[in-house]
Amino acid sequence: MPNTPPPPPPSKKQSPTSTNITPHINNNLPSPPSSSFVIRSPIPLSYGFGFTFAFVTLTLFFLSNNYNYQASYSYHNRSHFPTLFSLFFPITRSPENDSQKISNSSLDEIPSINGVKEEGKVGTHGVLSKRESDELKQSKGDLLDLLNSCDIYNGSWVRDDSYPLYEGGSCPHIDEQFNCFLNGRKEKKYENFRWKPYGCNIPRVNGRELLELLRGKRLVYVGDSLNRNMWESMVCILRNSVEDKSKVFEASDRHEFRREDSYSFVFPDFNCSVEFFRSPFLVQEWEMTRMNESKKSTLCLDLVDRASDSYKSADVLVFNTGHWWTRGRTSRGKGYFQEGSHIYGKLNVIEAFEKAMMSWARWIDANIDSVKTLVFFRGYSPAHFRGGQWNSGGQCDSESEPIKNMTYLSEYPQKMRVLEGVMKGMKTPVIYMNITRMTDYRKDAHPSIYRKQNFTEEERQSQIRFQDCSHWCLPGVPDAWNELLYIQLLIKHNKEQQRLH
Ligand SMILES: *[C@@H]1O[C@H](CO)[C@@H](O)[C@H](O)[C@H]1NC(C)=O
Ligand SMILES: *[C@@H]1O[C@H](CO)[C@@H](O)[C@H](O)[C@H]1NC(C)=O
Ligand SMILES: *[C@@H]1O[C@H](CO)[C@@H](O)[C@H](O)[C@H]1NC(C)=O
Ligand SMILES: *[C@@H]1O[C@H](CO)[C@@H](O)[C@H](O)[C@H]1NC(C)=O
Ligand SMILES: *[C@@H]1O[C@H](CO)[C@@H](O)[C@H](O)[C@H]1NC(C)=O
Ligand SMILES: *[C@@H]1O[C@H](CO)[C@@H](O)[C@H](O)[C@H]1NC(C)=O
Ligand SMILES: *[C@@H]1O[C@H](CO)[C@@H](O)[C@H](O)[C@H]1NC(C)=O
Ligand SMILES: *[C@@H]1O[C@H](CO)[C@@H](O)[C@H](O)[C@H]1NC(C)=O
Ligand SMILES: *[C@@H]1O[C@H](CO)[C@@H](O)[C@H](O)[C@H]1NC(C)=O
Repeated sequence: MPNTPPPPPPSKKQSPTSTNITPHINNNLPSPPSSSFVIRSPIPLSYGFGFTFAFVTLTLFFLSNNYNYQASYSYHNRSHFPTLFSLFFPITRSPENDSQKISNSSLDEIPSINGVKEEGKVGTHGVLSKRESDELKQSKGDLLDLLNSCDIYNGSWVRDDSYPLYEGGSCPHIDEQFNCFLNGRKEKKYENFRWKPYGCNIPRVNGRELLELLRGKRLVYVGDSLNRNMWESMVCILRNSVEDKSKVFEASDRHEFRREDSYSFVFPDFNCSVEFFRSPFLVQEWEMTRMNESKKSTLCLDLVDRASDSYKSADVLVFNTGHWWTRGRTSRGKGYFQEGSHIYGKLNVIEAFEKAMMSWARWIDANIDSVKTLVFFRGYSPAHFRGGQWNSGGQCDSESEPIKNMTYLSEYPQKMRVLEGVMKGMKTPVIYMNITRMTDYRKDAHPSIYRKQNFTEEERQSQIRFQDCSHWCLPGVPDAWNELLYIQLLIKHNKEQQRLH
């Protein structure tokens, strides 16, 4: 595996130039309320019933069933809240083979949740006494605290046939580039993995609940094509939980997501939008025309993304950058980096990256209201080109299993260390999604040769040479990133609730 992960395959979209700036105006979205994460819709009474039902069901379920509780729980849609309250169990079993983990369980193995697990304690009419309901609230807090203290990025991938979160080919909002199903990838084992932290269990994402968390809000991804990958995953996860899928639409009616500078999916029943802004460096690339008509592009390390004004009031922001900093002219760094009117003759790419991240950090600190907006930075997503780079015959099409031996994982990228340093100096809390290592295991889940549905003869000749071992098939790995995002939203929501009580 190459030490420095190479950039994604070339995209049709060229770098933005200073002459075709498209201003981003609100996509006619309802402006989100200023209060942050509060689930507005559930009626308090239904909580009690929901809990009781969930726990009674859970108890009976454990007594009478022999299979994976997480898998089966996802099919329980009667109670709105089972994943919220029932699945935060501290781990007591080996993570090795989760499909068996409950097969030999007795009630004793279920951690006691302040006594609520016992059927007898629950009122016969499914209504909790005040004491019970207080206990339940308390335990919910404890469980979330536990999850909060568990390193959710340290774990392993376990086989789980209840995944993927949505069927391959079922989601029309996936770019052809990521749609391995459409492009004929027959071997689908890569879809049946779940991320399992060593220190805790995480709930399977519940799209419906996630939409409740996002009600009236804007969730915005900003970054390169790997964030577009993650954004499309989120759109599909949410869409899959919506009954009338025809209601979900892209604000400008676009069906292909590579060319424009931004996109927005709207979930009208939730007054919620899930958006993507293309900004591969998070700072601005400029192109100027010299006197002799030749063009020269520079990267302005002190100017944040042009569109930043249009997403600074979003409720959740998910940034990423990284891959574009390894491209030729970026990493050579000669006469390319600019600050103010100064163009550096030569600047080390790591230094340039740090300057850019500092500009980003200053912008966040100056513009983001951290009471309202939750800011994430998603870490580097490793690529897996074997025997070459993306443009020189690197391949991954024969990979059918995740990496098992940690000695084959690549080193943590220096850029991410630099980023960690920058984030330490910020006053706005930024949640760093440290997905680099978990992602690095998944050499099996790239589009590889399944990056296009129909190849021309010429492309067919070259398809072995041009494989995509940077992006991810959908459904796939970005779904797991979004599952971790979901957990952070739950934690934030829970903290809000605790503050209110
Ligand atoms: C789950 O939801 C589906 C569709 O919304 C419905 O048809 C089904 O009856 C529900 N299942 C349960 C157990 O409520
Ligand atoms: C449960 O575990 C015991 C020993 O721990 C074993 O003897 C038994 O066969 C197991 N039962 C099932 C159903 O796996
Ligand atoms: C990850 O968890 C394992 C098992 O608990 C532990 O041995 C290891 O040190 C952890 N790694 C990191 C980077 O925290
Ligand atoms: C887990 O155990 C089941 C049942 O024994 C088996 O079919 C499956 O292959 C195992 N999965 C892994 C990843 O070992
Ligand atoms: C969505 O917002 C509009 C206007 O802000 C409001 O009238 C409507 O009730 C909201 N819908 C839902 C489902 O919250
Ligand atoms: C245009 O001028 C620049 C220096 O200003 C020079 O480096 C470049 O080679 C020139 N291009 C052409 C096509 O003459
Ligand atoms: C991992 O790979 C290294 C190097 O090939 C080898 O020495 C080691 O035994 C392997 N570890 C396991 C657990 O297979
Ligand atoms: C992120 O994970 C890597 C291991 O992949 C670790 O070396 C690094 O310290 C982690 N960073 C943070 C901030 O936890
Ligand atoms: C690929 O070819 C098939 C059959 O000719 C056609 O139905 C399909 O629309 C084509 N797909 C694309 C993305 O062009």
